[in-house]
Amino acid sequence: MMDEENTKWTKEWEASSSPGWAMKGINPYIKKYKDDLTKGMDCVKLFFPMCGDVEDMFWLSELGHDIVGVEISAIAIQKFFNDSNLEYVVTPCGEIKGSLYTSKTGKIRIYCGDFFLFGASIECNFDGIWDRGAFNILDNCDLKTDKRNLKKEYINILKSVMKQDCHVFIELVVSDSTAKSDDMQSFFGEDYLVEDFGLVEKYAPEYDSFPFKGFQFFRISKNNKI
Ligand SMILES: C[S@@+](CC[C@H](N)C(=O)[O-])C[C@H]1O[C@@H](n2cnc3c(N)ncnc32)[C@H](O)[C@@H]1O
Repeated sequence: MMDEENTKWTKEWEASSSPGWAMKGINPYIKKYKDDLTKGMDCVKLFFPMCGDVEDMFWLSELGHDIVGVEISAIAIQKFFNDSNLEYVVTPCGEIKGSLYTSKTGKIRIYCGDFFLFGASIECNFDGIWDRGAFNILDNCDLKTDKRNLKKEYINILKSVMKQDCHVFIELVVSDSTAKSDDMQSFFGEDYLVEDFGLVEKYAPEYDSFPFKGFQFFRISKNNKI
């Protein structure tokens, strides 16, 4: 993404290590969809684009899964490791023009840098992808750039790192009680099955003061024929 947009996010983390949209605890819907995300398997590779400091990553790694995240803010990543009481090492990562934070066990790797520099040459073959607040923020960015192109670029990166039978979950914020398809099918294309899992109410007290109505979940997978 453009530098000024990335700076907006890093400044938000500098201003508060608990930004308003960051929820405490584990997302009840990742609990609900866990077996679908992991395909009921024990040790799969899961991807969290624009991960912030979400506890969901620690929870899933404790269950035995390999976790990869990408996040622009080093503060968010350090907070994640500190809150989880995990030791980590930091190494430079030229490809993402940033760094890689790896837990001592190697089970959690979080790339600190711009998501739009991430791709299959860095990490690929994900069994599951959990997108909460990543695709969704592209609508709200202040850039004058074509948002549709940005969203396409985002989805193309997800597509490039999916394993053949990968399940992608995307959560969108919904401002009224009308479900929006957000043209998800057109972003993924006809080789992908896009399923709308419907609308849910706000699920955490942190969101009570926000004017939006709730959330909507999509599951995306590759069609069998490809
Ligand atoms: C709305 S928050 C969602 C965070 C997290 N997924 C969650 O559910 O709480 C968006 C996150 O994306 C990060 N972010 C924004 N633009 C990014 C970019 N281009 N590359 C990597 N991370 C980015 C922000 O720093 C922020 O932590």
